[in-house]
Amino acid sequence: MADIQNCDSCPSSPLELFERVTAQGEKVRSLKAGKASTDEIDAAVKLLLSLKVTYKTATGQDYKAGSPPVNFSPVSNNGPTTTQDEDFVDPWTVQTSNAKGIDYDKLIVRFGSSKIDKELINRIERVTGKTPHHFLRRGIFFSHRDMNQILDAYENKKPFYLYTGRGPSSEAMHVGHLIPFIFTKWLQEVFNVPLVIQLTDDEKYLWKDLTIEKAYEYAIENAKDIIACGFDINKTFIFSDLDYLGMSSGFYKNVVKVQKHVTFNQVKGIFGFTDSDCIGKISFPAIQAAPSFSSSFPQIFKDKKDIQCLIPCAIDQDPYFRMTRDVAPRIGYLKPALLHSIFFPALQGAQTKMSASDPNSSIFLTDTPKQIKTKINKHAFSGGKDTIEEHRKYGGNCEVDVSYMYLTFFLEDDDELEKMKQAYTSGALLTGELKKVLIETLQPLVAAHQQRRKQITDEMVKQFMTPRKLAFDF
Ligand code: TYM
Repeated sequence: MADIQNCDSCPSSPLELFERVTAQGEKVRSLKAGKASTDEIDAAVKLLLSLKVTYKTATGQDYKAGSPPVNFSPVSNNGPTTTQDEDFVDPWTVQTSNAKGIDYDKLIVRFGSSKIDKELINRIERVTGKTPHHFLRRGIFFSHRDMNQILDAYENKKPFYLYTGRGPSSEAMHVGHLIPFIFTKWLQEVFNVPLVIQLTDDEKYLWKDLTIEKAYEYAIENAKDIIACGFDINKTFIFSDLDYLGMSSGFYKNVVKVQKHVTFNQVKGIFGFTDSDCIGKISFPAIQAAPSFSSSFPQIFKDKKDIQCLIPCAIDQDPYFRMTRDVAPRIGYLKPALLHSIFFPALQGAQTKMSASDPNSSIFLTDTPKQIKTKINKHAFSGGKDTIEEHRKYGGNCEVDVSYMYLTFFLEDDDELEKMKQAYTSGALLTGELKKVLIETLQPLVAAHQQRRKQITDEMVKQFMTPRKLAFDF
């Protein structure tokens, strides 16, 4: 990613930055020598590349091992900046040095999206006649692109559709992955529109150490978790790229159109690809772009090319859709609209998002009640004080407390949440007690998900994944 930076220790001078790049280079070498996992190496390489970009911006010079910066002149343009408090967000890495998490207001400015403000939330309420979802009320979905256009269309009885997705990198999804799906289900119910869900098994085959067969198997397993969120079978089409690309001429035509109109330089700038990335990765963004265009689904939209698309996702996916929105008018299509969520943080703290590749950072949808309890008690970062006496005296800090953050996602009762906040901040509620509330919120939620998932048969998965007309006439 070219336009955003930072990392754990935020170097502030060019020399510190030079030392940071050198240290990260050494870390990459030692991970490779120690045969660390591909994920770990990839993350370290990404950070190294981002540090090099930061270094170049700060000094106007390329990083050269063994040659500390001399006579440097910072580059001032719209590209990367090196302020202390900038964050790194792309589809693969989310990192900040701030215990409160990513600065989402700054991200809005840097990504050029718009804040979901009170006015927009009120408009959604007026237009739909429904109480806005607590993800909207609490700023969990915090940013958008062109949501007003979607509301205009809806008010004028013009159709639109929803598109979201999942990269099936493992059998078990974590609770963070539920966020866009829970919200998408609410949108589908409130607006009564078609929904397409892309499973990018091809992406995971290209990026991870997985066979094609395994990636496809994970797609089917993940489809069960997605269906268990309660989507309407008559209004939802779920597809695996490995299956659907070979079946749909509409889809593949759009992939090729996007491929023709985006250069290697552009994807290098957006995604940080390098000359040694395989060509599958370089052309993959076109495959994630294609479902944004209604003509990719002729079985649903017939020959209609102008049904607008609305994409709910966490903000890490935005680079794909910035590219899509840029190319859309050049190939005669409408730009997709977007709703972006913040990240569900890792148990260890909001410096990074929950990640499926680190079991201790995440609560999985397959975890038992005991595992949930142990993980929260053992790993959830606390904003409480070191001793009970100090905590009672000074109170806890909800802004960095992971248990409190999780409750903002999953404790639906606004009054109850406010009570927790007051009690924790004043010191009346101890960390152990707050964790207990979280454990008792998540255990039934995950157990209910597991129950619903058990009811999903192979036949149902097949029906959801069969290209077909949905319950809408176009
Ligand atoms: P993936 O599998 O990484 O993530 C699936 C969805 O979950 C969101 N997400 C999170 N949301 C909140 N907190 C977290 N910690 C968290 N981690 C992941 C992601 O933003 C995403 O919405 N390439 C995509 C798959 C995809 C897609 C799409 C996603 C294809 N088309 C359209 C969204 C919209 C991927 O690997 O997602």
